[in-house]
Formats: sequence, C-alpha cells, structure tokens
Amino acid sequence: MKNLYVISGVTGMTGNELARQLLNDGHTVIGFDNFFASSIDTVRDIVDYGNFYFFEYDLNNAVHMSEIASWVEKIQKNYSKTIYVNCAAVVHTEHFYEVEHTFTTNVTSMRSFLQQAISVHADIYINCSTSEVYSMQSWNECGGVKEDDFLLLATAEHSQRTSYAVGKLLTEFFMKDAVDKGMIKGCSIRFANVYSNHERFAKHIIPHIIDSLSKTGEVILLENSKKNKRSFLHNIDSCRAVLELINSNSALDGTVYNVATDEEISIVDLAKLIAEKLHISMPRITFEGYRASDPERRILNTDKIRKCTNWKPVVSLSEGLDMCIQSLSESI
Ligand SMILES: NC(=O)c1ccc[n+]([C@@H]2O[C@H](COP(=O)([O-])OP(=O)(O)OC[C@H]3O[C@@H](n4cnc5c(N)ncnc54)[C@H](O)[C@@H]3O)[C@@H](O)[C@H]2O)c1
Repeated sequence: MKNLYVISGVTGMTGNELARQLLNDGHTVIGFDNFFASSIDTVRDIVDYGNFYFFEYDLNNAVHMSEIASWVEKIQKNYSKTIYVNCAAVVHTEHFYEVEHTFTTNVTSMRSFLQQAISVHADIYINCSTSEVYSMQSWNECGGVKEDDFLLLATAEHSQRTSYAVGKLLTEFFMKDAVDKGMIKGCSIRFANVYSNHERFAKHIIPHIIDSLSKTGEVILLENSKKNKRSFLHNIDSCRAVLELINSNSALDGTVYNVATDEEISIVDLAKLIAEKLHISMPRITFEGYRASDPERRILNTDKIRKCTNWKPVVSLSEGLDMCIQSLSESI
C-alpha cells in the first residue's frame, strides 16, 4: 500500500523534487506553497497528476491549515502511512537578518504544523533545519562538525543573522520533545547550501553567479568571498536524504542529521568554474559589501546519516552546475 505525504513549501527546492519522486513512485502528495520564494513553474510537470493535491496556501494561515488537515483526515484511511515533511521556510540570506521575517513561519508555524501532524495521527514528521545552527563554529579539521557538538553562537551583540539559526534550532527541540513523548516519529535535518536547476531567484550564490556571468560576463561578490569556502548540496541529494531517513525506522528518533557533501570550494573558485562552464575566459570578479558573522568555512560530518541509511550524495558539484546551466539555457 502507498503512503500519503503532506509537504509544506512544495514548490521550493527540496519540496518539488520530493513531490516528483514520490508521485512517480505512486504515492499521493498533498502539497502547498504560498510562492514566497518559488513559483508554480517548479512543479509544472507534475501539478496535473491525479495523485497530487496542490494548494496555494500559507503555512501561517490557520484557515488554510485546517483545510489541509480536513483533506488529510478525509483520505488518509486509503494509505499505509501519513507522513508530514515541513519544507516551508523563510530561507534566503537577506532574511536571516530580519528576525520578524523568519520567526512566524520558521518557528511558530513549524510547531503548529507538527501539532497538526500529531492531531491527525500522522506516523512521521520530518523537520528541515539548517547547518546555520553551527553558527561561528561551522568547521573543524577533524572531519567536520557533528550533530552532538556544542554550539558557538553569534548573538544579537554580534549580528542579527543568528536569529534564523536560533529559530531553526528551536524547531529541533520541538521535534525531539514530540518524539520523546511518543506522540510521533521523526527527525530534524541540517542541510547545508541547497541549490537546484529550477532556482530562478538569484538570491543564493550559485544562481547569482550563473545569472550575472551569463548576462554580463561580470559578477559582484561579497568581500567575505575572498576567504569563504562552502560545499553545495543539489536538491536531488537533499530530497534523497529525506526519503532515506523516512525509510529508516531507527533514524526517526527525534534527533538531528547533518546532510552535506564533502566537496568544498572557495566562492572565488566557484565563480571561475561557472565562468569556464559558460565559456567565459576572463570573468570580471569584483567584491562589494560585507556580511557579519558569516563563517569562513562550513564542513559537516555526515557519518551519522551514512551509518543508519544508504544515503550519500550522488550529484557532484560539476554535474550539478552543468544541470543548472542546461536548465537556464532551456528556459531562455
Ligand atoms: N536552501 C538551503 O540552502 C537550505 C539550507 C539549509 C536548510 N534549508 C531548509 O530546508 C527546507 C527547504 O528549503 P529549500 O531549500 O527547499 O528552500 P526554498 O526557499 O526553495 O523552499 C522553501 C519554500 O517554502 C515556501 N514558503 C515560505 N514561506 C511559506 C509560507 N508561509 N507558507 C507556505 N510556503 C512557504 C517558499 O515559497 C519556498 O517555496 C527549509 O526548511 C530550509 O530552511 C535550506
């Protein structure tokens, strides 16, 4: 028997790929998004599937959410399990600094969505958290930061940026508490720098560089980019991590799982690599602006998820960038 999935933020990067894979596997998806940072285009290929119930709904709207609960209660008896995946969030870096922008969606409504899952007797709740919670101690030289490492957080004395991370951290406590009290199974996932072929909003670094270089042969990076290095996770891999964790009963223990690749690259080298792929021999890279409390590196240890599931990243950065560039050229 197939499962019923309820996915918030379904047109976002992880949500749309998750819905695609589940629908193609014969499961049913109730998905919604308010198009805060995405559009219907990301699910254009699946939105008419008979097993996809899509709604333009807002996670912060109580009426919308009670309608979602009614749909679940109406049809869930036809499925083996009911599984909630909370992908909706205010994610982009520009909002990290605005606690008022992120708190309601990322914290209060995450909690209400978890309460809904519990009240409809859902089997599983997956909470998408973030590697931002590692804040100022986002790397070490011993194989990367681990889920049970103590955290060194920047505070409001240093930067408002951490408000996003602290909000997400709080959701991990709600998740753990619900599982410990036997109300539901589930876990939290700390993703690091997700990107996707479908991203058309040049807010994240990869679409920003592709967009800017392909239009002008020039890209402006933050001053931080002179030193910063990151790894990047294609949404095919973020989505596979969600599915692997759902299918591993022992992983649904309320705790946290790092999900990232080991392929670290400096932002300047990333810009040069993208330029090479766009056949731009002399890209103009300039630096402007500075972001406070932005860690120079972020290296996550992923032993925990690799031990309890078969997950490992399958899309290399080079392949992922090729897919993004290909998808951009098809959309022009
Ligand atoms: N993108 C990243 O680099 C990254 C990194 C770490 C963690 N995460 C987390 O992973 C999860 C999935 O993010 P993503 O990578 O797919 O990002 P995304 O921005 O592509 O997707 C989030 C989706 O949520 C939607 N949304 C926002 N507010 C909403 C609301 N009030 N009601 C309904 N929908 C709403 C947006 O429109 C968007 O489609 C999020 O919880 C995010 O915090 C993402």
